[in-house]
Amino acid sequence: MSSRVRKAVIPAAGLGTRFLPATKATPKEMLPVVDKPAIQYVVEEVVRSGIDDVLIITGRNKPSLEDHFDRVVELEDTLERDEGKRELLDRVRASTDLAHLHFVRQKDPHGLGHAVSCAAEHVGREPFAVLLGDDLIDERDELLTRMIDVQAEKGGCVLALLEVPPEQISLYGCAAVEATDTPDVVTVTELVEKPAAKDAPSNLALIGRYVLSPEIFDVLAETPPGRGGEIQVTDAIARLIDPEAVGGPVHGVVFRGRRYDTGDKADYLRSIVQLACDRADLGPDFRAWLTEFAASRLPLGDPDVPLQP
Ligand code: G1P
Repeated sequence: MSSRVRKAVIPAAGLGTRFLPATKATPKEMLPVVDKPAIQYVVEEVVRSGIDDVLIITGRNKPSLEDHFDRVVELEDTLERDEGKRELLDRVRASTDLAHLHFVRQKDPHGLGHAVSCAAEHVGREPFAVLLGDDLIDERDELLTRMIDVQAEKGGCVLALLEVPPEQISLYGCAAVEATDTPDVVTVTELVEKPAAKDAPSNLALIGRYVLSPEIFDVLAETPPGRGGEIQVTDAIARLIDPEAVGGPVHGVVFRGRRYDTGDKADYLRSIVQLACDRADLGPDFRAWLTEFAASRLPLGDPDVPLQP
């Protein structure tokens, strides 16, 4: 029906205000999640789905994003001379050889929709994936691959949807849907950006994975500022729901796997703990410590009693 997705776009131009002052001089996408910056997890996810052309939309003060994926020859030389640093060297090299990365700057911060529109020239007239760095998807759950397959079959746009507790829906774009014959695939009938819980048409939240048709660029160019005075990608996709619209239909893949939200401080901490627990190298010791720590604090642990090393 349409060509298979070959390009991915990662908007990374936000100011990271929720993590100030850590994000004064460091982009939030560079904050470490265990031992890799969040953005590297997202690029790795793209690559696992079979895409190797990645455009990162950056903003001012974000040169470290580009530096992270570049080679550091002096560092590699130093590691190479030390036999014991072989694995580290491999990990450093792997982060520079991941994909064909491209960078473009969003010059004015007019919101996510505007950031996506900065990809128009690079993407051209083909479907493409968009991944937001606040949401990390566990490597054991192949959400993006599934979305790309659904898009190849049905055309139009495909959104990742996650059921959230109703009181949390106001933090997300929200989708009203109808079932299809495929259990994890739904037809999207309405989209609202961050509705109040009482106005939300469902508790299905948009998590930051999209496969979009190129017509989204035409719609974005005409989309007025929405919620928060920003150009919202949710509003633009909503216009492709219309059965007459070129660039539709809009489907959703309902995700039931493991997602790590790194978008605010508490979620960021939870993400790191979960990922560290599952790591083969760190997990066993870390879990043992965590169990002891939790027992000393919960349910009535005294935070003033020091934990024995
Ligand atoms: C953005 C989108 C929202 C989506 C969310 C997912 O909001 O506008 O529709 O649900 O990402 O993380 P943000 O979290 O950037 O405010």
